[in-house]
Amino acid sequence: MGYASFLHDIGKAKIPASLLQKPSKLNEKEWETMKKHTLWGKQIISKQFSLKQFDKIAKIIYQHHERWDGNGYPQGLKCDEILIEVQILSVADAYDAMIYKRPYQKALSKEEAIEEIKSEKGKQFSPKVVDTFLKIEDKFKKD
Ligand SMILES: [Fe+2]
Repeated sequence: MGYASFLHDIGKAKIPASLLQKPSKLNEKEWETMKKHTLWGKQIISKQFSLKQFDKIAKIIYQHHERWDGNGYPQGLKCDEILIEVQILSVADAYDAMIYKRPYQKALSKEEAIEEIKSEKGKQFSPKVVDTFLKIEDKFKKD
């Protein structure tokens, strides 16, 4: 799980920097290229590492843009068809993406990011994982 969270976007190594750093919205063709990073990531890991442990990592990388409601990519998996590791990674990655500044968006406050996560419960994210995230987040606030 640790390797997968660290390597999940490794497929972006094959995407031109001009596209990764584009400050405006991607057009349809650019978006189709961007979406291939899940497949390219899986291929890079499968080619480089033959250990059984990396099969799971390759699967996690391939699924990491699936959504709980089935509107993700590349396979349009939904609910528990999505690996639990991916369900957890999705929430953690989204939170991380929101609280740090990106070329195409300003950073949100932690409170704004949490509201966004809550609003995607049962849509982008697993309801159970969101509930657990909120419990953990709340615990850290108190400590
Ligand atoms: Fe990604």
